[in-house]
Amino acid sequence: MSHRLRPQRNPVRRSSGRRRRRRPSSTASAPQAPWWPPRARLQDLATASVNASGLSCRSDAARKAAATEGEVDVNEASAERSYRGRLAAITGAGCGMGRELARLLAAEGCHLALCDIQREPLEHSREAALAAARAAGHEIGVSTARCDVTREDDLVAFRDAALSELGRDSVDLLFNNAGIGGGGSLVADDRDEWERTFDVCWRGVYLGTRVFLPALMRSENGHLVNVSSVNGFWASLGPHTPHTAYSAAKFAVRGFSEALLTDLRLHAPHVRVSVVMPGHIGTEIAFNTGRVLGHSEPLEMDAAQVARARHRLELQDGAAAALSDDEVRQATHQRATEFRDQAPLDAEKAARIILDGVRAGRWRILVGDDAVALDRLVRAQPEAVYDPAFVEALQQQGHFEVAAGGDGVHGDEPQGDEG
Ligand SMILES: NC(=O)c1ccc[n+]([C@@H]2O[C@H](COP(=O)([O-])OP(=O)(O)OC[C@H]3O[C@@H](n4cnc5c(N)ncnc54)[C@H](O)[C@@H]3O)[C@@H](O)[C@H]2O)c1
Repeated sequence: MSHRLRPQRNPVRRSSGRRRRRRPSSTASAPQAPWWPPRARLQDLATASVNASGLSCRSDAARKAAATEGEVDVNEASAERSYRGRLAAITGAGCGMGRELARLLAAEGCHLALCDIQREPLEHSREAALAAARAAGHEIGVSTARCDVTREDDLVAFRDAALSELGRDSVDLLFNNAGIGGGGSLVADDRDEWERTFDVCWRGVYLGTRVFLPALMRSENGHLVNVSSVNGFWASLGPHTPHTAYSAAKFAVRGFSEALLTDLRLHAPHVRVSVVMPGHIGTEIAFNTGRVLGHSEPLEMDAAQVARARHRLELQDGAAAALSDDEVRQATHQRATEFRDQAPLDAEKAARIILDGVRAGRWRILVGDDAVALDRLVRAQPEAVYDPAFVEALQQQGHFEVAAGGDGVHGDEPQGDEG
Protein backbone atom coordinates (compact mmCIF):
# COMPACT_ATOMS: atom_id res chain seq x y z
CA MET A 1 0.00 0.00 0.00
CA SER A 2 1.29 3.45 -0.66
CA HIS A 3 0.46 7.06 -0.34
CA ARG A 4 2.14 8.54 -3.39
CA LEU A 5 4.32 11.58 -3.32
CA ARG A 6 3.05 14.86 -4.65
CA PRO A 7 5.33 17.69 -5.65
CA GLN A 8 5.94 20.32 -3.04
CA ARG A 9 7.78 23.60 -3.09
CA ASN A 10 11.53 23.27 -3.07
CA PRO A 11 12.50 24.15 0.49
CA VAL A 12 16.13 24.80 -0.37
CA ARG A 13 17.57 28.00 -1.82
CA ARG A 14 19.45 27.33 -5.04
CA SER A 15 22.67 28.95 -6.17
CA SER A 16 24.86 28.40 -9.18
CA GLY A 17 27.99 26.84 -7.68
CA ARG A 18 28.34 23.34 -6.33
CA ARG A 19 31.12 22.60 -3.88
CA ARG A 20 32.60 19.21 -3.55
CA ARG A 21 34.71 17.67 -0.89
CA ARG A 22 37.60 15.43 -1.94
CA ARG A 23 37.43 11.97 -0.55
CA PRO A 24 40.44 11.53 1.73
CA SER A 25 43.12 9.40 0.10
CA SER A 26 43.14 7.15 3.14
CA THR A 27 39.68 6.81 4.59
CA ALA A 28 40.55 4.18 7.17
CA SER A 29 41.11 6.67 9.95
CA ALA A 30 38.53 9.23 8.88
CA PRO A 31 36.11 10.07 11.66
CA GLN A 32 32.48 9.15 11.14
CA ALA A 33 31.23 12.57 10.22
CA PRO A 34 27.63 13.54 10.77
CA TRP A 35 25.39 13.81 7.73
CA TRP A 36 25.60 17.52 8.01
CA PRO A 37 28.75 19.62 8.12
CA PRO A 38 29.24 22.28 10.80
CA ARG A 39 26.87 25.21 10.62
CA ALA A 40 29.57 27.58 9.40
CA ARG A 41 29.85 25.65 6.17
CA LEU A 42 26.15 25.54 5.51
CA GLN A 43 26.08 28.96 3.85
CA ASP A 44 28.64 27.73 1.39
CA LEU A 45 26.60 24.69 0.68
CA ALA A 46 23.19 26.10 -0.07
CA THR A 47 23.23 24.55 -3.50
CA ALA A 48 21.50 21.34 -2.72
CA SER A 49 20.24 19.62 -5.78
CA VAL A 50 16.70 18.83 -4.80
CA ASN A 51 13.70 18.58 -7.01
CA ALA A 52 10.27 20.01 -6.50
CA SER A 53 9.36 17.34 -3.96
CA GLY A 54 12.41 18.05 -1.85
CA LEU A 55 14.09 14.80 -2.88
CA SER A 56 17.49 14.50 -4.45
CA CYS A 57 17.19 14.53 -8.22
CA ARG A 58 20.80 13.88 -9.05
CA SER A 59 21.02 11.09 -11.61
CA ASP A 60 22.74 7.78 -11.07
CA ALA A 61 25.13 8.67 -13.88
CA ALA A 62 26.15 11.90 -12.17
CA ARG A 63 26.71 10.05 -8.90
CA LYS A 64 28.85 7.41 -10.55
CA ALA A 65 30.90 10.10 -12.30
CA ALA A 66 31.50 11.88 -9.00
CA ALA A 67 32.48 8.63 -7.32
CA THR A 68 34.94 7.88 -10.10
CA GLU A 69 36.50 11.28 -9.62
CA GLY A 70 36.99 10.43 -5.95
CA GLU A 71 34.64 13.20 -4.92
CA VAL A 72 31.74 13.32 -2.56
CA ASP A 73 29.13 15.95 -3.17
CA VAL A 74 28.24 17.30 0.25
CA ASN A 75 25.56 19.70 -0.91
CA GLU A 76 22.62 17.36 -0.70
CA ALA A 77 23.82 16.10 2.65
CA SER A 78 23.65 19.54 4.16
CA ALA A 79 20.45 20.86 2.66
CA GLU A 80 18.98 21.35 6.09
CA ARG A 81 19.41 19.87 9.51
CA SER A 82 16.39 17.61 9.35
CA TYR A 83 15.09 14.40 7.88
CA ARG A 84 12.80 16.33 5.55
CA GLY A 85 12.49 14.96 2.05
CA ARG A 86 14.58 11.87 2.77
CA LEU A 87 13.34 8.29 2.49
CA ALA A 88 13.61 6.00 5.51
CA ALA A 89 12.90 2.26 5.47
CA ILE A 90 11.98 0.73 8.83
CA THR A 91 11.57 -2.97 9.60
CA GLY A 92 9.33 -3.99 12.48
CA ALA A 93 7.51 -0.68 12.04
CA GLY A 94 4.16 -1.96 13.31
CA CYS A 95 4.74 -1.41 17.01
CA GLY A 96 7.01 0.03 19.66
CA MET A 97 10.14 1.88 18.63
CA GLY A 98 9.58 1.15 14.93
CA ARG A 99 6.21 2.90 14.98
CA GLU A 100 7.61 5.85 16.95
CA LEU A 101 10.54 6.20 14.58
CA ALA A 102 8.03 6.31 11.73
CA ARG A 103 5.85 8.92 13.46
CA LEU A 104 8.75 11.20 14.39
CA LEU A 105 10.33 10.97 10.96
CA ALA A 106 6.97 11.69 9.34
CA ALA A 107 6.57 14.77 11.54
CA GLU A 108 9.84 16.02 10.04
CA GLY A 109 8.61 15.42 6.49
CA CYS A 110 10.52 12.19 5.85
CA HIS A 111 9.04 9.73 3.36
CA LEU A 112 8.63 6.20 4.69
CA ALA A 113 8.85 2.57 3.63
CA LEU A 114 7.46 0.51 6.51
CA CYS A 115 7.31 -3.24 6.93
CA ASP A 116 6.23 -5.67 9.61
CA ILE A 117 5.24 -9.29 9.89
CA GLN A 118 1.95 -8.21 11.50
CA ARG A 119 -0.37 -6.48 9.04
CA GLU A 120 -2.83 -4.76 11.36
CA PRO A 121 -0.37 -2.88 13.59
CA LEU A 122 1.49 -1.85 10.45
CA GLU A 123 -1.65 -0.21 9.11
CA HIS A 124 -1.99 1.71 12.41
CA SER A 125 1.60 2.88 12.05
CA ARG A 126 0.91 4.11 8.53
CA GLU A 127 -2.09 6.09 9.75
CA ALA A 128 -0.14 7.47 12.71
CA ALA A 129 2.72 8.55 10.44
CA LEU A 130 0.41 10.25 7.94
CA ALA A 131 -1.40 12.04 10.78
CA ALA A 132 1.90 13.23 12.25
CA ALA A 133 3.03 14.52 8.87
CA ARG A 134 -0.27 16.31 8.27
CA ALA A 135 -0.19 17.92 11.72
CA ALA A 136 3.27 19.27 10.95
CA GLY A 137 2.21 20.54 7.52
CA HIS A 138 4.11 17.96 5.49
CA GLU A 139 2.93 15.81 2.65
CA ILE A 140 4.81 12.54 2.61
CA GLY A 141 4.75 9.23 0.83
CA VAL A 142 4.28 6.10 2.92
CA SER A 143 4.69 2.63 1.47
CA THR A 144 3.86 -0.41 3.59
CA ALA A 145 4.44 -4.12 3.11
CA ARG A 146 3.90 -7.25 5.12
CA CYS A 147 7.37 -8.77 5.33
CA ASP A 148 9.16 -11.40 7.39
CA VAL A 149 12.72 -10.11 7.73
CA THR A 150 14.10 -13.65 7.87
CA ARG A 151 12.99 -14.15 4.24
CA GLU A 152 15.12 -12.52 1.57
CA ASP A 153 12.29 -12.71 -0.99
CA ASP A 154 10.04 -10.73 1.34
CA LEU A 155 12.70 -8.07 1.85
CA VAL A 156 13.39 -7.76 -1.88
CA ALA A 157 9.65 -7.38 -2.56
CA PHE A 158 9.38 -4.79 0.24
CA ARG A 159 12.29 -2.77 -1.17
CA ASP A 160 11.17 -2.95 -4.78
CA ALA A 161 7.56 -2.06 -4.01
CA ALA A 162 8.65 0.90 -1.87
CA LEU A 163 11.00 2.32 -4.52
CA SER A 164 8.42 1.90 -7.24
CA GLU A 165 5.48 3.28 -5.21
CA LEU A 166 7.46 6.25 -3.95
CA GLY A 167 9.11 6.93 -7.30
CA ARG A 168 12.66 6.69 -5.97
CA ASP A 169 15.84 4.85 -6.92
CA SER A 170 17.57 5.17 -3.57
CA VAL A 171 16.95 4.85 0.15
CA ASP A 172 18.53 7.33 2.57
CA LEU A 173 18.03 5.54 5.87
CA LEU A 174 17.45 1.91 6.80
CA PHE A 175 16.42 1.05 10.35
CA ASN A 176 16.89 -2.69 10.90
CA ASN A 177 14.60 -2.66 13.91
CA ALA A 178 12.48 -5.84 13.87
CA GLY A 179 13.17 -8.14 16.81
CA ILE A 180 11.65 -10.68 19.20
CA GLY A 181 12.68 -12.38 22.45
CA GLY A 182 12.43 -16.09 23.22
CA GLY A 183 14.76 -19.08 22.90
CA GLY A 184 16.31 -18.31 26.28
CA SER A 185 17.82 -21.71 26.99
CA LEU A 186 19.90 -23.75 24.56
CA VAL A 187 19.32 -26.73 26.87
CA ALA A 188 15.68 -26.51 27.85
CA ASP A 189 13.96 -24.60 25.04
CA ASP A 190 12.66 -25.83 21.75
CA ARG A 191 15.31 -25.69 18.98
CA ASP A 192 12.93 -24.23 16.39
CA GLU A 193 12.05 -21.39 18.72
CA TRP A 194 15.71 -20.74 19.53
CA GLU A 195 16.58 -20.53 15.87
CA ARG A 196 13.55 -18.38 15.05
CA THR A 197 14.58 -15.79 17.65
CA PHE A 198 18.18 -15.84 16.47
CA ASP A 199 17.08 -15.54 12.84
CA VAL A 200 14.73 -12.60 13.37
CA CYS A 201 17.24 -10.68 15.50
CA TRP A 202 20.41 -11.46 13.54
CA ARG A 203 19.55 -12.76 10.08
CA GLY A 204 16.85 -10.09 9.71
CA VAL A 205 19.50 -7.40 10.22
CA TYR A 206 22.03 -9.10 7.97
CA LEU A 207 19.53 -9.69 5.14
CA GLY A 208 18.02 -6.23 5.53
CA THR A 209 21.48 -4.75 5.10
CA ARG A 210 22.31 -6.94 2.10
CA VAL A 211 19.04 -6.24 0.34
CA PHE A 212 19.01 -2.48 0.95
CA LEU A 213 22.73 -1.72 0.65
CA PRO A 214 22.67 -1.01 -3.12
CA ALA A 215 19.79 1.44 -2.60
CA LEU A 216 21.61 3.05 0.37
CA MET A 217 24.73 3.38 -1.76
CA ARG A 218 22.73 5.16 -4.45
CA SER A 219 21.78 7.78 -1.87
CA GLU A 220 24.06 10.78 -1.55
CA ASN A 221 24.50 9.92 2.11
CA GLY A 222 22.89 6.69 3.15
CA HIS A 223 22.67 5.75 6.81
CA LEU A 224 22.28 2.19 8.08
CA VAL A 225 20.90 1.95 11.61
CA ASN A 226 21.02 -1.49 13.24
CA VAL A 227 19.08 -2.03 16.44
CA SER A 228 21.03 -4.22 18.84
CA SER A 229 20.49 -4.02 22.61
CA VAL A 230 22.32 -3.81 25.90
CA ASN A 231 22.32 -7.57 25.32
CA GLY A 232 24.74 -6.78 22.51
CA PHE A 233 27.40 -6.17 25.16
CA TRP A 234 25.94 -7.96 28.21
CA ALA A 235 24.60 -11.47 27.50
CA SER A 236 22.29 -11.65 30.45
CA LEU A 237 18.93 -10.91 32.03
CA GLY A 238 20.35 -11.66 35.46
CA PRO A 239 21.54 -14.85 37.15
CA HIS A 240 18.21 -16.71 37.05
CA THR A 241 17.18 -16.26 33.42
CA PRO A 242 18.90 -17.99 30.49
CA HIS A 243 19.04 -15.63 27.53
CA THR A 244 21.10 -17.30 24.83
CA ALA A 245 19.41 -16.82 21.42
CA TYR A 246 18.65 -13.13 21.82
CA SER A 247 22.05 -12.28 23.32
CA ALA A 248 23.92 -14.21 20.63
CA ALA A 249 21.95 -12.39 17.93
CA LYS A 250 22.37 -8.95 19.47
CA PHE A 251 26.12 -9.48 19.93
CA ALA A 252 26.23 -10.45 16.25
CA VAL A 253 24.37 -7.29 15.27
CA ARG A 254 26.80 -5.15 17.22
CA GLY A 255 29.87 -6.95 15.84
CA PHE A 256 28.55 -6.76 12.29
CA SER A 257 27.79 -3.04 12.62
CA GLU A 258 31.17 -2.22 14.14
CA ALA A 259 32.98 -4.19 11.43
CA LEU A 260 30.95 -2.37 8.79
CA LEU A 261 32.39 0.95 10.02
CA THR A 262 35.69 0.04 8.39
CA ASP A 263 34.22 -1.79 5.42
CA LEU A 264 31.97 1.13 4.50
CA ARG A 265 34.71 3.69 5.06
CA LEU A 266 36.84 1.77 2.57
CA HIS A 267 34.20 0.85 0.02
CA ALA A 268 31.26 3.23 0.41
CA PRO A 269 32.35 6.20 2.54
CA HIS A 270 29.16 8.10 1.85
CA VAL A 271 27.20 5.43 3.75
CA ARG A 272 27.18 5.66 7.56
CA VAL A 273 26.37 2.96 10.06
CA SER A 274 25.08 3.24 13.61
CA VAL A 275 24.39 0.55 16.17
CA VAL A 276 21.62 1.23 18.68
CA MET A 277 21.72 -0.33 22.14
CA PRO A 278 18.55 0.32 24.12
CA GLY A 279 18.07 -0.56 27.78
CA HIS A 280 14.57 -1.31 29.02
CA ILE A 281 12.02 0.43 26.80
CA GLY A 282 8.29 0.14 27.49
CA THR A 283 6.92 -1.70 24.46
CA GLU A 284 4.73 -4.72 23.70
CA ILE A 285 7.72 -6.84 22.74
CA ALA A 286 6.85 -9.53 25.28
CA PHE A 287 3.36 -9.90 23.79
CA ASN A 288 4.61 -9.58 20.21
CA THR A 289 7.25 -12.23 20.75
CA GLY A 290 4.56 -14.79 21.54
CA ARG A 291 2.48 -13.67 18.55
CA VAL A 292 5.40 -13.95 16.12
CA LEU A 293 6.40 -17.34 17.56
CA GLY A 294 2.83 -18.56 17.13
CA HIS A 295 2.06 -18.91 20.84
CA SER A 296 -1.26 -18.20 22.48
CA GLU A 297 -1.80 -14.96 24.38
CA PRO A 298 -0.55 -15.37 27.98
CA LEU A 299 -4.03 -15.70 29.49
CA GLU A 300 -4.90 -18.40 26.93
CA MET A 301 -1.77 -20.55 27.12
CA ASP A 302 -2.34 -24.29 26.74
CA ALA A 303 -0.98 -26.87 29.18
CA ALA A 304 2.38 -27.28 27.42
CA GLN A 305 2.96 -23.52 27.29
CA VAL A 306 1.97 -23.18 30.94
CA ALA A 307 4.50 -25.88 31.86
CA ARG A 308 7.29 -24.01 30.10
CA ALA A 309 6.26 -20.69 31.63
CA ARG A 310 6.15 -22.30 35.06
CA HIS A 311 9.66 -23.67 34.57
CA ARG A 312 10.94 -20.18 33.81
CA LEU A 313 9.18 -18.69 36.81
CA GLU A 314 10.60 -21.45 39.00
CA LEU A 315 14.15 -20.63 37.94
CA GLN A 316 13.57 -17.24 39.51
CA ASP A 317 11.48 -18.28 42.47
CA GLY A 318 10.94 -21.90 43.52
CA ALA A 319 7.54 -20.96 44.96
CA ALA A 320 6.21 -20.83 41.38
CA ALA A 321 6.00 -24.65 41.54
CA ALA A 322 2.94 -24.30 43.74
CA LEU A 323 1.06 -21.92 41.41
CA SER A 324 -2.06 -23.18 39.68
CA ASP A 325 -2.12 -23.12 35.88
CA ASP A 326 -4.29 -20.01 35.93
CA GLU A 327 -1.90 -18.30 38.32
CA VAL A 328 0.96 -19.06 35.94
CA ARG A 329 -1.07 -17.52 33.10
CA GLN A 330 -1.82 -14.47 35.23
CA ALA A 331 1.80 -14.09 36.34
CA THR A 332 3.01 -14.36 32.76
CA HIS A 333 0.50 -11.79 31.54
CA GLN A 334 1.40 -9.49 34.43
CA ARG A 335 5.10 -9.63 33.67
CA ALA A 336 4.57 -8.73 30.02
CA THR A 337 2.25 -5.88 31.05
CA GLU A 338 4.66 -4.53 33.65
CA PHE A 339 7.51 -4.77 31.19
CA ARG A 340 5.51 -2.46 28.92
CA ASP A 341 4.05 -0.14 31.56
CA GLN A 342 6.83 0.18 34.14
CA ALA A 343 9.79 0.93 31.94
CA PRO A 344 12.04 3.89 32.65
CA LEU A 345 11.69 5.07 29.05
CA ASP A 346 8.79 4.87 26.61
CA ALA A 347 9.09 4.08 22.90
CA GLU A 348 8.67 7.68 21.77
CA LYS A 349 11.50 8.96 23.96
CA ALA A 350 13.65 6.06 22.82
CA ALA A 351 12.96 6.89 19.17
CA ARG A 352 13.88 10.54 19.78
CA ILE A 353 17.21 9.49 21.27
CA ILE A 354 17.87 7.23 18.29
CA LEU A 355 17.03 9.92 15.73
CA ASP A 356 19.10 12.54 17.54
CA GLY A 357 22.05 10.14 17.61
CA VAL A 358 21.71 9.34 13.92
CA ARG A 359 21.34 13.03 13.08
CA ALA A 360 24.54 13.77 14.97
CA GLY A 361 26.33 11.03 13.03
CA ARG A 362 27.04 8.94 16.12
CA TRP A 363 27.80 5.31 15.34
CA ARG A 364 27.20 4.08 18.90
CA ILE A 365 23.84 5.02 20.35
CA LEU A 366 22.98 3.98 23.90
CA VAL A 367 19.30 4.48 24.71
CA GLY A 368 18.35 5.14 28.33
CA ASP A 369 20.16 5.84 31.59
CA ASP A 370 20.10 2.11 32.33
CA ALA A 371 21.98 1.36 29.10
CA VAL A 372 24.54 4.06 29.88
CA ALA A 373 25.06 2.77 33.44
CA LEU A 374 25.32 -0.84 32.29
CA ASP A 375 27.81 0.06 29.57
CA ARG A 376 30.00 1.82 32.14
CA LEU A 377 29.82 -1.08 34.62
CA VAL A 378 30.57 -3.74 32.01
CA ARG A 379 33.66 -1.83 30.92
CA ALA A 380 34.80 -1.25 34.48
CA GLN A 381 34.60 -4.89 35.61
CA PRO A 382 34.27 -7.25 32.62
CA GLU A 383 35.08 -10.41 34.62
CA ALA A 384 32.32 -9.76 37.12
CA VAL A 385 29.38 -9.05 34.87
CA TYR A 386 27.74 -12.46 35.21
CA ASP A 387 28.03 -12.61 39.01
CA PRO A 388 24.80 -12.10 40.99
CA ALA A 389 26.51 -9.23 42.81
CA PHE A 390 26.83 -7.36 39.53
CA VAL A 391 23.08 -7.34 39.10
CA GLU A 392 22.64 -6.21 42.69
CA ALA A 393 24.94 -3.26 42.01
CA LEU A 394 22.84 -2.36 38.98
CA GLN A 395 19.66 -2.51 40.99
CA GLN A 396 21.19 -0.44 43.76
CA GLN A 397 21.68 2.23 41.14
CA GLY A 398 17.96 1.95 40.38
CA HIS A 399 18.27 0.19 37.02
CA PHE A 400 16.42 -2.83 35.60
CA GLU A 401 13.97 -3.00 38.46
CA VAL A 402 10.76 -4.18 36.87
CA ALA A 403 8.50 -5.13 39.77
CA ALA A 404 7.32 -8.50 38.58
CA GLY A 405 9.39 -11.62 38.26
CA GLY A 406 11.99 -13.25 40.49
CA ASP A 407 15.23 -11.32 40.36
CA GLY A 408 13.55 -8.24 38.92
CA VAL A 409 16.12 -7.86 36.15
CA HIS A 410 14.74 -7.47 32.66
CA GLY A 411 17.43 -5.82 30.62
CA ASP A 412 15.31 -6.60 27.60
CA GLU A 413 12.06 -8.35 27.08
CA PRO A 414 10.81 -11.32 29.07
CA GLN A 415 10.88 -14.74 27.45
CA GLY A 416 8.81 -15.82 24.49
CA ASP A 417 5.94 -17.49 26.27
CA GLU A 418 5.32 -14.30 28.11
CA GLY A 419 3.99 -12.75 24.98
N1 LIG B 1 11.87 -2.98 24.34
C1 LIG B 1 13.08 -3.12 24.84
O1 LIG B 1 13.30 -3.04 26.06
C2 LIG B 1 14.26 -3.34 23.92
C3 LIG B 1 15.53 -3.26 24.48
C4 LIG B 1 16.63 -3.46 23.67
C5 LIG B 1 16.47 -3.72 22.32
N2 LIG B 1 15.22 -3.80 21.81
C6 LIG B 1 15.12 -4.07 20.37
O2 LIG B 1 14.43 -3.00 19.75
C7 LIG B 1 13.78 -3.46 18.57
C8 LIG B 1 12.33 -3.00 18.61
O3 LIG B 1 11.72 -3.62 19.72
P1 LIG B 1 10.41 -3.07 20.44
O4 LIG B 1 10.67 -3.15 21.88
O5 LIG B 1 9.95 -1.83 19.82
O6 LIG B 1 9.42 -4.28 20.11
P2 LIG B 1 7.95 -4.35 19.49
O7 LIG B 1 7.49 -5.74 19.66
O8 LIG B 1 7.10 -3.26 20.01
O9 LIG B 1 8.24 -4.06 17.93
C9 LIG B 1 8.93 -5.01 17.14
C10 LIG B 1 8.19 -5.17 15.83
O10 LIG B 1 8.92 -6.13 15.04
C11 LIG B 1 7.96 -6.93 14.36
N3 LIG B 1 8.55 -8.20 13.95
C12 LIG B 1 8.87 -9.25 14.73
N4 LIG B 1 9.37 -10.25 13.99
C13 LIG B 1 9.38 -9.81 12.71
C14 LIG B 1 9.77 -10.39 11.48
N5 LIG B 1 10.25 -11.66 11.40
N6 LIG B 1 9.67 -9.64 10.36
C15 LIG B 1 9.18 -8.37 10.41
N7 LIG B 1 8.76 -7.79 11.54
C16 LIG B 1 8.86 -8.50 12.68
C17 LIG B 1 6.84 -7.11 15.37
O11 LIG B 1 5.63 -7.51 14.75
C18 LIG B 1 6.78 -5.72 16.00
O12 LIG B 1 5.86 -4.90 15.33
C19 LIG B 1 13.98 -4.97 18.56
O13 LIG B 1 15.07 -5.29 17.72
C20 LIG B 1 14.33 -5.29 20.00
O14 LIG B 1 15.08 -6.46 20.11
C21 LIG B 1 14.11 -3.63 22.56
